[in-house]
Amino acid sequence: MCGIVGYVGREQAAPILLDGLSRLEYRGYDSAGVAVYHDGQVRVAKSKGRLQVLSDMIQGGRAIPGTIGIGHTRWATHGAPSDTNSHPHVSHSGKIAVVHNGIIENYAQLKSFLQAKGVPFVSETDSEVVAQLVEYFYEGDLLAAVGRVLHRIEGAYALGILCCDQPDQLIAVRKDSPLILGLGEESNFLASDVTAILRHTRDVIYMEDGEVAVLTAQGIQCYNSLLQPITKEVARVDWEVDAAEKGGYEHFMAKEIMEQPEALRRTIFPRIQDGEVYLEDFALTDEEIRDLQKLYIVACGSSYHVGMVGKYHLERLLRKPVEVALASEFRYMEPIVDEHTLVVVISQSGETLDTMAALREAKRLGAKVLAIVNVVGSSIARESDVVLYTWAGPEIAVATTKAYSTQLAVLNLLGLYFARRLGTIETEEYRDILGQMLLLSAQMEEVLAQKSQIQYLASRYFNHESIFFMGRNVDYALGLEGSLKLKEISYIHSEAYAAGELKHGTISLIEDGTLVVAVGTYGALFDKALSNVVEVKSRGADVLALTTASHAQRMEEVANGMMLIPDTHPMLLPSLGVVPLQLFAYYVALHRGCDIDKPRNLAKSVTVE
Ligand code: F6R
Repeated sequence: MCGIVGYVGREQAAPILLDGLSRLEYRGYDSAGVAVYHDGQVRVAKSKGRLQVLSDMIQGGRAIPGTIGIGHTRWATHGAPSDTNSHPHVSHSGKIAVVHNGIIENYAQLKSFLQAKGVPFVSETDSEVVAQLVEYFYEGDLLAAVGRVLHRIEGAYALGILCCDQPDQLIAVRKDSPLILGLGEESNFLASDVTAILRHTRDVIYMEDGEVAVLTAQGIQCYNSLLQPITKEVARVDWEVDAAEKGGYEHFMAKEIMEQPEALRRTIFPRIQDGEVYLEDFALTDEEIRDLQKLYIVACGSSYHVGMVGKYHLERLLRKPVEVALASEFRYMEPIVDEHTLVVVISQSGETLDTMAALREAKRLGAKVLAIVNVVGSSIARESDVVLYTWAGPEIAVATTKAYSTQLAVLNLLGLYFARRLGTIETEEYRDILGQMLLLSAQMEEVLAQKSQIQYLASRYFNHESIFFMGRNVDYALGLEGSLKLKEISYIHSEAYAAGELKHGTISLIEDGTLVVAVGTYGALFDKALSNVVEVKSRGADVLALTTASHAQRMEEVANGMMLIPDTHPMLLPSLGVVPLQLFAYYVALHRGCDIDKPRNLAKSVTVE
């Protein structure tokens, strides 16, 4: 999704902006641009394509001097990727420059209004209207003009605004699209993502919806939506800078796959104390837990797949109904949710717009909302009643890996915590699962040690054009994630099926040489998984199986290729099973020469509907 960086200080702005934008590249974009004030005018450089094109165009920033500026990476929504549609957008006189993330929903009316007043537009974007409108209202006081604009625009926006009449200040605005402020020494920053400014400062202010800030080299003044000055808390980001760098790996995705054992340790270890699950700052009382009639897990993409796995476990553990919904569906489906429902939203970024909207809908309906989130201080974390952080560290690759694993671990811990309070789990099983959870990281290391074996399998199968995943129960949920991982980074068409459903249609697609990834880790249904393998093989399929060490021998007799995980408690199998599927997707994409960390058309955090 689009990225924003802004800088005001003593140093040259353009190189800082380019560097900041390069750290946002992972979010996905199709064009980039910067605007820098110098000597009475705002100079803009922007270009379709990779950031390197822009950087070459302005000689790494040297070609546009100045110590205040804004930069943007655009992911096209309104108007095709092009130089003209790239940000920053400049008002018709060249006085105001704007970068915008989000969508201005009423831009068409505002554009017609301005055009009727003779204001010429050059781009097809919704964002240009903001620059033109600020200029339209500008009467010598930039903040006042911005205030008037905010009363007129509707939608979601994070804005960075620069005006050549007030060349010592930047204005930042946030509504439903993330924006943070960074405090440096005689320099200040704005950014849509903390990774953009981490090299310069760890002291940040999280802006809330409706807030506005004026940044100068000397300081930052924040305002509420009525433009009354407010004092904001400064938070310290404790991520290491190199956590957001590749550290010798060819891709962030490879690094993040390999980081999973460590990430799991951080997620799990502090939360198991003296044989009990310990959840920090957990704001639900035992009585509130007992009072719950239903859990609703709501998320998008891979986070939704975590919810799919969770449903199987939590229903069994809690003996309460657990529903799982895609956030984009939940928000419009009039869900049956009330004060006896706990809505669990899962999000790595904490900024996914649909998940955010679902959270608000759930609260409106009276439910309590618990969020499982990675990014500290993100919008979803701040608006939820209870937050459980995944502590996975920054996830840069578009395809999520360590966030998935840690979300799953947190969901399992939550289930165990509730089950203990509800008395729906035997102490022996509870202790057994906790014990096995503490072994997960080490077991995951064993799985990762087989990566060259999986690379070899990928080299055998990378040129297939269509791949099916099948499994039952949690293995079906796992197949959904394996299939998503594969298609998003390798562009191979792939589908995941509940194995029992095959005969109800899909089996007609199986022919000689079709690759089927058979996920068969769940012991209770292993015999059924085996039958499904035989079934597709008899139609000509090539079967690559994923199973546990204890089932390896029987599976090997029928499958063409094998991926193995150690045995563990059934509840924890998906945590191990996902790793070979991630590695398989990664190596297939590598063999196909794909842009693994920045797959086409995708963005890291989806802040538009
Ligand atoms: C897939 C992937 C996406 C995200 C989805 C939700 O690899 O990363 O499907 O899982 O966009 O994002 P978050 O978890 O940030 O809400």
